[in-house]
Amino acid sequence: MTAAPPPLYAVYGASGCGRSIMPLAREQLARQGVPPERLVFVDDGATAPVVNGQRVLGFQAFLQAPASTRHAVLAIADGQVRARLAARCAAAGVQAWTVAAANVVRMDDVVLGEGAALSPFVTLTSNIRIGRHFHANLYSYVEHDCVIGDYVTFAPGVCCNGNVVIEDHAYIGTGAVIRQGRPGAPLVIGRGAVVGMGAVVTRSVAAATTVAGNPARLLAPKE
Ligand SMILES: CC(C)(COP(=O)(O)OP(=O)(O)OC[C@H]1O[C@@H](n2cnc3c(N)ncnc32)[C@H](O)[C@@H]1OP(=O)(O)O)[C@@H](O)C(=O)NCCC(=O)NCCS
Repeated sequence: MTAAPPPLYAVYGASGCGRSIMPLAREQLARQGVPPERLVFVDDGATAPVVNGQRVLGFQAFLQAPASTRHAVLAIADGQVRARLAARCAAAGVQAWTVAAANVVRMDDVVLGEGAALSPFVTLTSNIRIGRHFHANLYSYVEHDCVIGDYVTFAPGVCCNGNVVIEDHAYIGTGAVIRQGRPGAPLVIGRGAVVGMGAVVTRSVAAATTVAGNPARLLAPKE
């Protein structure tokens, strides 16, 4: 009897985001005794067969490579694109994979949905709920009692203070600071909203709007 091939792991996307997540993925698998050959980039638009020492496969080649199970972390900053890729992966039997740096801090009662990518120095404090395919980039934190939806993206250094609700597909730019809400009266960042880099958010942000500045104000839509 021939042994079943081992699982195959992927960082989906070989652009900047993927190249930042790949070392974390490699390290995480090494801690589990999985050799780096079982880890690939998946990218249909890649121009090189190997990126930073890791093989690059198109999605179909990834599906055809011998493997008992397939696992992918979606390394694309745009939450809408992540949602499309998640559906594509689910339809093909590829499992959502969470990759987290070894020094991520998780405190008490953290519920984290599948497929997250947590960069170095991220802190998730206590009593928080986070949906699927969350990205938290370098040094971001989520304080107590926050509720974060699906496909939410934090760029580096996001300070999300306590009692904040962030709805699905919101994007929070580098170094943004979000004021705390109150129990029963959270500050809400609406679905699909964008918070610009460096913003100081003092009030709730409506869905599908972009805010920036200190204090954060609505950015006029482009003509
Ligand atoms: C807010 C943001 C989404 C706006 O992007 P955009 O819609 O392409 O807007 P533009 O760059 O055309 O800028 C429109 C105006 O807003 C200003 N602006 C843009 N971003 C701003 C910000 N973060 N804070 C204050 N003003 C900002 C621009 O200077 C410009 O002003 P002007 O019309 O007086 O010249 C974007 O600038 C941003 O902050 N993105 C997050 C970047 C980030 O964190 N990346 C992380 C990579 S890992």
